[in-house]
Amino acid sequence: MYRIESKIDVQSSAFKKNREEFLKILNEFKSNLEKVRHGAPEKAVSRHKERGKLLARERIDLLIDPNTPFLELSPMAAFGEYGNQFPSAGIITGIGVIHGKETLIIANDATVKGGTYIKETIKKHVRAQQIAIENCLPCVYMVDSGGIFLPEQSKVFADRFNFGRFFYNQARLSAMGVPQIAIVMGSCTAGGAYVPAMSDETIIVKKQGTIFIGGPPLVKAATGEVVSPEDLGGADVHTSISGVADHLAENDQHAIQICRNIFQTLESKEKQRLEISPVEDPFYDPEEIYGLAPIDFRKPVDSKEIIARMVDGSRFHEFKARYAPTLITGFANIMGYPVGILANNGVLFSESSLKGAHFVELCQSRKIPILFMQNITGFIVGKQYEHGGIAKDGAKFVHAVANADVPKFTVVFGGSFGAGNYAMAGRAYDPRLLFMWPNSRISVMGGEQASGVLIQVKEEQLAASGKTMNPEEREKLRAEILKKYEEEGSPYFSTSRLWDDGIIDPVDTRKIIAMGIAMSLNQKFPDMKNGVFRM
Ligand code: COA
Repeated sequence: MYRIESKIDVQSSAFKKNREEFLKILNEFKSNLEKVRHGAPEKAVSRHKERGKLLARERIDLLIDPNTPFLELSPMAAFGEYGNQFPSAGIITGIGVIHGKETLIIANDATVKGGTYIKETIKKHVRAQQIAIENCLPCVYMVDSGGIFLPEQSKVFADRFNFGRFFYNQARLSAMGVPQIAIVMGSCTAGGAYVPAMSDETIIVKKQGTIFIGGPPLVKAATGEVVSPEDLGGADVHTSISGVADHLAENDQHAIQICRNIFQTLESKEKQRLEISPVEDPFYDPEEIYGLAPIDFRKPVDSKEIIARMVDGSRFHEFKARYAPTLITGFANIMGYPVGILANNGVLFSESSLKGAHFVELCQSRKIPILFMQNITGFIVGKQYEHGGIAKDGAKFVHAVANADVPKFTVVFGGSFGAGNYAMAGRAYDPRLLFMWPNSRISVMGGEQASGVLIQVKEEQLAASGKTMNPEEREKLRAEILKKYEEEGSPYFSTSRLWDDGIIDPVDTRKIIAMGIAMSLNQKFPDMKNGVFRM
């Protein structure tokens, strides 16, 4: 593979200006993330600690192997909603390593409204289980939750991917042979009782964990029976009378140690084989991405310059370098793992779609994971291109991406607009992980384009009844639409609603994608299978 020759002048004023603006965006992101990590009310945190309990992130730190990273998912879920009363949506999810095994960890944060579930908490829990299913990852549930946040019940209880899905997923994971361990470290009420009850092994903390289908107030209301939480479903009851739990722990630390001991007994499964090379830093400094990453989307950014700062040795074996240059395709290594990269370098034409579909097929047939780097305004529009069959060529690309079952990873490094989002493995195309850079934007189209379309539609409606819009009215409508798109296109809006798995610092992209590939090897890559491509 050849090293990419960078043409960027890192001393230029344009580079320095971009870097300065990018660092502002990055610092704002880091400060928001910090606020979220310490967002629970002081009172709730001290009460939690006084009870001798560890905080959710402290529990995870103790659970995973020392000096190994934890890839936290969607830490900013529910950000900017509910008056920011649900930092991280009251649940921590992510991938960590326990006794050498990549594991999906789900930990309730009882300092956030008793660890109860709002819409985003549910989405985060189900998303984490989906990752476990797709990648065959063992799961640890660190339970400390009051169940459904009752005022929001209509949004979290009855639908297909609501609370009930947790237990369906547990049953399916179990049938797949995926081990699931529950540690009951606090309340585990109502439907929540099925989390430990459906796990392979359950640990419960003495005088701290409780499991019951109906808590004491409900029992009293239903039957008149008066019973304390401990007598109804405490650790002693469940480890000596009901058998719902298997191990009694003295405290959080002890429970975590038991869980780690259980991991030593798990079967080591055969992994997908990949040609892994020695890890090498990129030749070009990854921090130079700050001076390059798109901020003003009207200015083109050569995505090969970004790739050069992400891949091992900045080496890239480019495919069809001379053809359809608005889509860069090629092979590289990221922290030793081979990867096929597709990166937007302008609008998608028919040729770029064909090139993309061809390259995805190569990755599929060679069983190489794919990284999609999105910075896309969409497919080309206009009579010439419709006549040339852009719809059928775009469809081939979308077909190939949808059916590519090798692990796909998506990073939005600029804009993600229109059907370009689909072809480049947006959320609907099941990439194993999807991350946004803090400078990115995501919406059906840009605000300018949307305001142009909507003003024209309005003017045509008015013209039909012989009316017109005056310049002030037109400007007012335009400003309203721009404001809405500005807000809704933000990565914070996306990450709050779990359209992605988190916002990340560009410099961490290498490490995160490498962790993603490592976890994906727990599931053998299926053979290539495609549908009908319209020719
Ligand atoms: N729905 C909505 N809010 C709830 C809630 C629920 N199910 N459970 C707890 N909360 C809220 C409390 O109102 C309180 O809110 P505040 O901080 O604004 O005052 C906060 O969560 C903490 O609750 P609190 O009872 O003070 O904390 P705790 O640590 O002593 O007890 C629980 C936590 C979860 C054990 C306890 O609140 C409880 O038993 N809740 C009811 C559980 C239940 O029956 N759930 C059924 C759902 S299907």
